[in-house]
Amino acid sequence: RPGLVIAVDGPSGAGKSSTSREVAARLGCAYLDTGSMYRALAVWCADHRIAADDTDAVVAAARDLPLEITPSPAGFTVALDGRDVTARLHRPEVSGMVSGYAAVRDARRSLNARMRAIIAASGRIVVEGRDITTVVAPDADLRVLLQADPARRIARREAELNGAADRKTVTEQVVGRDAADSASSKFETPAAGVVLIDSTELTLEQVVDKVIGLVPAEL
Ligand code: C5P
Repeated sequence: RPGLVIAVDGPSGAGKSSTSREVAARLGCAYLDTGSMYRALAVWCADHRIAADDTDAVVAAARDLPLEITPSPAGFTVALDGRDVTARLHRPEVSGMVSGYAAVRDARRSLNARMRAIIAASGRIVVEGRDITTVVAPDADLRVLLQADPARRIARREAELNGAADRKTVTEQVVGRDAADSASSKFETPAAGVVLIDSTELTLEQVVDKVIGLVPAEL
């Protein structure tokens, strides 16, 4: 089969992960959640007492990060130095600190190189993040920016957390992380050639159908 790279960007809570995972499953593609790589960097730095403003140390950590990603249809396993850290990656304390590490420009370069290697090795893949359509894979076969109204994104996060945090806390997290991340990547408006999908009024199924409908027929 021919190669196929689908890039999906968007803010937190827009439905990137659910959409990308489902599109990958339906098309028989690999799936790369690049946020998990930044989250793994944050976990590694926190465990090694490297603060986000110690940029030299963060850059070195990103360069040498003993990161192992195992894509699977069921999801995604992330190991650091042979230890499975998948369950830690989405904890609130990691979500709260990841943007600071992701802001370190040369750390991003290191992770970008790893992402490109994974993309090149996989042939057919759905890659999601914040700067995949613009920086990591601007030549992807299909580039999508997934958006949704903030109220909808906050409600989705709240539902995901299942009562673990109240509306005010979730709002601060979502809005705060978007603001911090928008300094590193431009994911608010689609770049030239990037298709905008607003998922505010759509079900997951409808978004997935839209993305699959946009895949060039010959791929
Ligand atoms: O997508 P997710 O919410 O898991 O991403 C976690 C964090 O990783 C983001 O808040 C952002 O700081 C960073 N990130 C990034 N560029 C990407 C993907 C994620 O800066 N391509």
